[in-house]
Amino acid sequence: MEELNNKLDKITFDENAEHDVSKDPIYAAKDHDSQFDPKQYLEGFYKTAKEDTAMQVILFFLPGVLYRLPEKVENLLDLGAGPTVYIPIAVRKRAENIFTSDYAEANRQTLKSWIESKSEFDWTNVCTWLSNIEATNESPKMMQELARSKMRGILSVNVHKDTVIQEVYYQHTEYKKEIPKQFDVVTTVFCLEYASETLEEYQNAVKNATSLIKNGGFLIQGGVLNADEYSFGGRRFRCHHLTKEQLLNCLKQNNMSIDEKESCFKLIIHDDIFILVSKKYM
Ligand SMILES: C[S@@+](CC[C@H](N)C(=O)[O-])C[C@H]1O[C@@H](n2cnc3c(N)ncnc32)[C@H](O)[C@@H]1O
Repeated sequence: MEELNNKLDKITFDENAEHDVSKDPIYAAKDHDSQFDPKQYLEGFYKTAKEDTAMQVILFFLPGVLYRLPEKVENLLDLGAGPTVYIPIAVRKRAENIFTSDYAEANRQTLKSWIESKSEFDWTNVCTWLSNIEATNESPKMMQELARSKMRGILSVNVHKDTVIQEVYYQHTEYKKEIPKQFDVVTTVFCLEYASETLEEYQNAVKNATSLIKNGGFLIQGGVLNADEYSFGGRRFRCHHLTKEQLLNCLKQNNMSIDEKESCFKLIIHDDIFILVSKKYM
């Protein structure tokens, strides 16, 4: 924690920056499919893994949170991955079959190009950041190769639909099984509150997302509290103003553990960025 605080203290925000974000156009959460620019997003948030406090908090605490999962996980889904692959990289040793997903086709295309080793974006810095926290001496190339070898599919998803998985966008040719309807672990970071604009929508998104978890399975959720919008690349997107109370209530209403006394629940909040692990009761 001290290490992270030191790192966060070193981030300098340019208060005199000429660009006034409040003048950028603002889009609805549902416009992610047409207005999300994967390249700008990755350049803005993941280029050095030091660029953005929110991503730093997630990447710093993620390996520790994953440690609470069973040693072997058969099927894992990253729900609303955007164009990012840090989750598959972080779970590469634990998960047997990794599925990723997004609502926007541009993001699904970006995920596919990484799986096919044709990624335009360089994940080396994020790998190095993760490997420092994991204390592993694997190279970024080895980390990505292992993660890639576990990728089984890319799904088109919409958390506002009862049937979240709308279609299979890509399936690895060697994966002959049917895509699971439920997973041992679902991870979802900066997705559920960013896909919603009202509490009702958020509640529905959590209900739908948790329906993808097997009984006895786990949810790893990351996100932001008390925010009304987010922005990158000259565009803003409205989001649901999520409170800690709403976050916990929604989990409870969906049969997910929220008791810190149980080893299957852990919530970390730093600067309004949260990451949690919660188990679905049998
Ligand atoms: C801020 S990005 C988060 C991406 C990534 N998980 C991360 O940690 O950087 C929000 C993502 O939510 C996705 N999203 C928006 N509406 C959605 C919906 N209705 N269903 C599923 N995903 C949605 C967007 O397409 C976008 O990729």
